[in-house]
Amino acid sequence: MKLRYLSHSGFLLTLEDGKKIVIDPFLDDNPVAPVKSDEIDADYIILTHGHGDHLGDSFKIADRCSPLFICVNELADYCAGRGYQAHNMHIGGGFNFDFGRIKFTIAHHGSKTPDGEYAGEPAGVLITIDGKTIYHTGDTGLFYDMKLIGEMNKIDYMILPIGDNFTMGIDDAVKAVELCNPEVAIPMHYNTFPVIEADPNEFAEKITKMGKNAKVLEFGQEIEI
Ligand code: NI
Ligand code: MN
Repeated sequence: MKLRYLSHSGFLLTLEDGKKIVIDPFLDDNPVAPVKSDEIDADYIILTHGHGDHLGDSFKIADRCSPLFICVNELADYCAGRGYQAHNMHIGGGFNFDFGRIKFTIAHHGSKTPDGEYAGEPAGVLITIDGKTIYHTGDTGLFYDMKLIGEMNKIDYMILPIGDNFTMGIDDAVKAVELCNPEVAIPMHYNTFPVIEADPNEFAEKITKMGKNAKVLEFGQEIEI
């Protein structure tokens, strides 16, 4: 399968059968996004929380592609209430979809929709497809249960914020990688706005020094995973 970094917390997974899973597509109002919402197709949209920089352009994409939204209960209800298809889940719960397994984890952050509705708890998400597990942490501070998540799941790719201010900064993210012990760490949620400026290469160097692997993706870059 292919993993494309859309910038900020946005990722696009393209599976072997061509199915597309989009995570947190914040594109049109994102000053660094290399693609806009009318260029992104989705069969599934996974949302980590309701903030505008994560819900983003989901509904514009959904109006064209009729994807299934996968998110925590309150946010799924918000999507369903606007006429979109949604699969309601919650933290700690997993479900086997036709493409693979999704399980939501805790994240320490906030969550409400851009129009002010409560969106439930913010979340991270474990995505297991064809024997590979991706842990997209969502927006979060550092927490020790990342060790538990790493012990109970063999994480191939841990995708985590480094931008500081709203989430972990570089040093906390390095500790998160130490706790979770993934095969590869991929930084996100940086350099979208001045307040979250961070050097992903500094993060990568610190991970390498620890004897672990980091992969910095350019905004728009796609890799085979
Ligand atoms: Ni947020
Ligand atoms: Mn955010």
